[in-house]
Amino acid sequence: MCGIVGVSLGSLQYDAYSDLLETAAFLQHRGQDACGIICGTEDGTASFHRGAGLVNEVFGKGSHVASHLQGSFGIVRYPTNGEYNKVQIQPIIDKSRGNIAIAHNGNLENSRALGTYLTSIGQNQSNCTSDSGLILETLLSKYHPPSEMSSVESWIMLGLEQVYLRCVGSFACVLFIPGYGLVAFRDANGIKPVIMAERILDHGEVDYMFASESVACTSLGYTPVRDVRPGEAIFVPYASACRPQHRCIIRQVVPQLSYSPDIFEYVYFARADSVIDGISVNRSRRFMGKALAQTLINEITAKDGCVHEEIDCVIPVPETSLTCALAVSQYLHKPLAFGFVRNRFIFRTFLLPTQKQRTKAVASKLSTVREEFEGRNVLIIDDSIVRGTTAIQIVKMAREAGAKKVYFASGSPAIRFKHIHGIDLADESRLIAHGRSNLQISEALGADGVFYLSLDALIDSCISARRYGDVSSFEVGIFNGVYSTRGSCLAK
Ligand SMILES: *[C@@H]1O[C@H](CO)[C@@H](O)[C@H](O)[C@H]1NC(C)=O
Ligand SMILES: *[C@@H]1O[C@H](CO)[C@@H](O)[C@H](O)[C@H]1NC(C)=O
Ligand SMILES: *[C@@H]1O[C@H](CO)[C@@H](O)[C@H](O)[C@H]1NC(C)=O
Repeated sequence: MCGIVGVSLGSLQYDAYSDLLETAAFLQHRGQDACGIICGTEDGTASFHRGAGLVNEVFGKGSHVASHLQGSFGIVRYPTNGEYNKVQIQPIIDKSRGNIAIAHNGNLENSRALGTYLTSIGQNQSNCTSDSGLILETLLSKYHPPSEMSSVESWIMLGLEQVYLRCVGSFACVLFIPGYGLVAFRDANGIKPVIMAERILDHGEVDYMFASESVACTSLGYTPVRDVRPGEAIFVPYASACRPQHRCIIRQVVPQLSYSPDIFEYVYFARADSVIDGISVNRSRRFMGKALAQTLINEITAKDGCVHEEIDCVIPVPETSLTCALAVSQYLHKPLAFGFVRNRFIFRTFLLPTQKQRTKAVASKLSTVREEFEGRNVLIIDDSIVRGTTAIQIVKMAREAGAKKVYFASGSPAIRFKHIHGIDLADESRLIAHGRSNLQISEALGADGVFYLSLDALIDSCISARRYGDVSSFEVGIFNGVYSTRGSCLAK
């Protein structure tokens, strides 16, 4: 899982670099391991900088980086997935064919077969090992040295047809073509997000931005125009004196197979102030909370009498679950208590590479406010339970802070299957819900009860939060093992 951005300014006088860098503040939650930016000028020059670490670590070391990254268009990517190896830090750049570069969010399911195929046709020139490199190689199998703009568009269309034919899985990408501009495209199921936005300047020039989340656009003064749709590519040639204005070209490369955004974006990954594929993340989480409260009322009453009455307060695990927990508290008529304080300078645990680092990170990431727990029956809300590492620690901390009963509720269904689209969650066997009933999970967590939102209720919550568009299905394989890309391979 990661964040990608492309920027193409309407005026050649300005550098895209600062907009690309500023988006980090809004997308850094999608990836903290590394980042890279490549920028281009109209004469075809490309300059780039990549490195491991947070954006300020990679780009904050003096102004020499800024003066070196010139040009009115460029792309950036913030990756996760343990991509510490410098070769894999994106954007991936093909230096032998004119510095064409790609920023990709997603995962391929047929990388091995694709690699073998590319090698067999002599198209493994960069000896790539990553999915993103494979997508770029597939695209470049139709590469022709550029002569004029329209010929660039035609080879890219042919290359994209190959990508859609050969690459099975999820991909939301922005391509950087020196001397041409940007091309954003998205897999035929629309699993990973990428939105297009524009900013119209005083003299009518238009700046374009593509980004994983709308918040990156709106925060920089861009207005979202549309999501890139499944199977679609949007070309944005760089601005020039003869075409400073509305210069995007929209092409449906292959028919849409489905429109199934990854539901985990709404549950956990995206910021609450983003709108993804027409669905407000904030509203979806509010509805998840409402449905979770309904579940608690029904489930607890049915099993043990009016036990939900004995809950004294609702305590969110900061920060993703705050929106959901607020709704739970409102619908249960129980006060919301901020019992956990998050140390903002420690990062997400399940994305850390080793179990040891993970356990250590949980311990230092949260602390308790004792008065909120002491002598109370608490209902702790988190957005999801993955390995259970965090949840076990949290239950333990709640008891140590003096809680009487500790109930744990997840704003999403039990995670029992692998996430195959780029969130490096865990092997199935390491998922705490894998092969366990709710009662067994509750015991494993050391809680007095565990509650999950049903998958139907989760899907309904997202659909109810729709502001525009027509998304009505989602990638939910992580919950039920049925993946939208399976069986949807175009290449037989
Ligand atoms: C590409 O070629 C290199 C060297 O022959 C090989 O190590 C690598 O695995 C190949 N990549 C793929 C994806 O097959
Ligand atoms: C890729 O591998 C081949 C054969 O192993 C080698 O000749 C070539 O130089 C490598 N290319 C790159 C870009 O590393
Ligand atoms: C979040 O959603 C709720 C419920 O729809 C709404 O009342 C609230 O204003 C929203 N907050 C923001 C910041 O949009």
